[in-house]
Amino acid sequence: MRHPRILAFAGSIRTGSFNARLAALAAKELALLDVETTLISLVDYPMPIYDGDLEAKSGPPENAVMLKRMITRQHGVFIASPEYNASVTPLLKNTLDWVSRVRENGEPPLAAYKNRVFALGAASNGSLGGYRSLMALRQVLELGCGALVLPEQVAVREAANGFDDAGGLRDERTANTLRGVLGRLVEAARQFV
Ligand SMILES: Cc1cc2nc3c(=O)[nH]c(=O)nc-3n(C[C@H](O)[C@H](O)[C@H](O)COP(=O)(O)O)c2cc1C
Repeated sequence: MRHPRILAFAGSIRTGSFNARLAALAAKELALLDVETTLISLVDYPMPIYDGDLEAKSGPPENAVMLKRMITRQHGVFIASPEYNASVTPLLKNTLDWVSRVRENGEPPLAAYKNRVFALGAASNGSLGGYRSLMALRQVLELGCGALVLPEQVAVREAANGFDDAGGLRDERTANTLRGVLGRLVEAARQFV
């Protein structure tokens, strides 16, 4: 049986980002599940803020094309999404927007979001654990981009103390929720292999 390929990344490039930690933990756990796992950082895919004039002049930036190709090689994607003012970060939204504009070789629109499955997580130092950003991200991915997004999700509360020195989650219940989300992600991703 071929192994599903799953990508993990965070919607933050901040040094010490809680969500980068969550994406790294997800990648580590996925690697234990017979999955070909890739962990990336959006710091390696910088893009200008979306501007229709820029797009009309020169098309989507090279990094949007690269990231779109990276995503289309995957059967599943895990996104760790920080919460800014009850929504997603501008970094994540801008990245998803540019990727949604990439269309190569006559393929149908939104190719990066189709034929694969997405799972969501968030980490915040607040008591909701970035839960509201997941609702906003779900709207963007499902309604905006037509993606299949798993109903299961994980929110890491009080994230400043949420991770141990090995990068694991201190709270056993949250750790189990993450494992449940990732298990479902692998199971769903297998259908696209
Ligand atoms: C502009 C701004 C708005 C924020 N709004 C929220 C919020 O609505 N809810 C929340 O839990 N945290 C909020 N935060 C705190 C972030 O969750 C915190 O900065 C977190 O560390 C960001 O994720 P990261 O660690 O992955 O970079 C906000 C931070 C910024 C800079």
